[in-house]
Amino acid sequence: MFQWFDERLEISRLYNKFLRKAFPVHHSFFLGEIALFAFVVLVLTGIFLTLNYEPSIREVNLPDGSTVPAAYASVLYIDSLPFGAVIRSVHHWSAHIMVAAVFLHLLRVLISGAYKKPRELNWLIGLGLLGLTIVTAFTGYALPYDNYAVTATRIGYGIGASIPFVGGAIAEIMFGGEFPGSTHSVPRLYSIHVLWLPLTLIALIGLHLLIMVKQKHTQPKYAEKVAPGKILGVPLYPQQSVMMGILFLVYLAVTVFIAGAFIAHPIEAFGPPTPQTPAVKPDWYFLWIYGILQVIPSEWQFRFFGAVIGPEFIGGVIVPGILGAVAALLPFVDVSKDKVRYLELPSEHPVRTSVTLGVLMFFIMSTLAGYKIDLNLSNAVLWTLILVVPVLTGVVSYILLKALYGRSWERSSAEPQAAD
Ligand code: HEM
Repeated sequence: MFQWFDERLEISRLYNKFLRKAFPVHHSFFLGEIALFAFVVLVLTGIFLTLNYEPSIREVNLPDGSTVPAAYASVLYIDSLPFGAVIRSVHHWSAHIMVAAVFLHLLRVLISGAYKKPRELNWLIGLGLLGLTIVTAFTGYALPYDNYAVTATRIGYGIGASIPFVGGAIAEIMFGGEFPGSTHSVPRLYSIHVLWLPLTLIALIGLHLLIMVKQKHTQPKYAEKVAPGKILGVPLYPQQSVMMGILFLVYLAVTVFIAGAFIAHPIEAFGPPTPQTPAVKPDWYFLWIYGILQVIPSEWQFRFFGAVIGPEFIGGVIVPGILGAVAALLPFVDVSKDKVRYLELPSEHPVRTSVTLGVLMFFIMSTLAGYKIDLNLSNAVLWTLILVVPVLTGVVSYILLKALYGRSWERSSAEPQAAD
C-alpha cells in the first residue's frame, strides 16, 4: 500500500528531505512552539465563537426586558451554552499566552544572538508577527461590546486617530468610522479580527518556519563541544513531532485548567456600555503604553505642517515606533559575526545583555506608571523611575557581568573572535 503511494507521490524522498530535518533539543526552543500552539487553539476556539457571535450593535431585548447591543447579548448566549464560557475563556487566555510566548521567544532570540546574519529576514518577519499578534488581540477587545471593552478600545481608537495626516484614514479603515458610535465599527473590527489578521498571521508564520527550516536552527552551545561543525538534534519525524505533540497536550491541559478556574472577562460584571466611563486599565501588554500616556502632560502639543502632534501620538505611536525601529535595525548594525551557528551566552555579550535588561526595566517602570492614580504617585517621581531606573539597571548589570565573567572575556578575546 505504502509503495503504491510512494511510487506516485515520492513520499520517502519527502521524508528524507524534510521530515529528517534535525531539531536541536533545548528548552528555550519550545517558546516559539508554544506561540504556535496558542495560535492553533485561538483559531479552533475562535471558529466555535463565530458560530454564535453576532457582530452588530443593533438593540435587542434580553428576557429580563433590558435592551442591550446584539453583540453583547450574543456573548451572554455563548456563555450560557454547554462549555461555552470555558471555550470563550480558553480563547481569551490563549491570546494572553500567545502574546507572552511571542515576546519571550523574541527575548530568547535576542539574548542568544540568533537574529544575526543569516537570520535577519526571520527577525524582521518575527517583529511583524509580534505586531500582528498584538493588533489581533486588540481588535478582539471590542467584540463583546460591554462597558469594559468599549472603554479600553476607545483608548486604542484615540491613539490610531492621533497619527498626523493618516490618523483619520486609519480610524476609518480599522473602525469604520468614529468609535464608539459608528454602527460599522463592530462588523469592521470583527472581519479584521477573524479573517484578515489570522490569514496574514498564517502566511507569515508559514514563511517564518520555512525560512527557519531552510537556514537551520542555531545550535545550542553544547553542540559546539559534542559535535563541532555538525548539526546536532533529533529528526522532525518521529522524535520531534512526538515531543511537540506532548507539549501541545500539556499546553491544552494547562490552558483549559486556567480557563476553567479563572473565567476570563465575565461581561455581565461590566454590563452593556453606558455613557459613564468605568475605571478600567488595558491588558498587561498595553499597560506600559497606557502608563506613558498617564505621565505625558496634556500641554505637550504642537503643530507640524498643520497637523497636531499630541500626547497620544507621542506616547502611543512615537515611543513604541522608536523601539520597533531600533529592533528592526539591530541585525544590520550588529554585524559582529559572519554567520551565527551556535547560540551565544548572554554572559559573553555584556553590552547586549545589559541594554536588554535596561529596556525590560523601562517596560516595567512604564507599566508601574499605569498605576499612577492607584498608587498616588506624582509625574516627577514616575518620570524619574521611567528614565533613571532603566539606565541604572543597564549600568549595574554591566558592572556585575564584568565582575563575574570579565576574566573569561579576556581569555576569549585572546582567541580570534568577533567582539560584542
Ligand atoms: C506568531 C509568532 C511566532 C511564532 C509562531 C514563531 C515560531 C517559531 C518557531 C516554532 C521557531 C523554531 C523554534 C525556536 O527557535 O523557538 C522559530 C524560530 C525563530 N524565530 Fe520565531 N515565531 C514567532 C515570532 C517571532 C518573533 C517575534 C521573532 C523576533 C523578532 C522571531 C524570530 C525567530 C528567529 C530569528 C528564529 C530562528 C532562531 C534560531 O535559529 O535560533 N520569531 N520561531
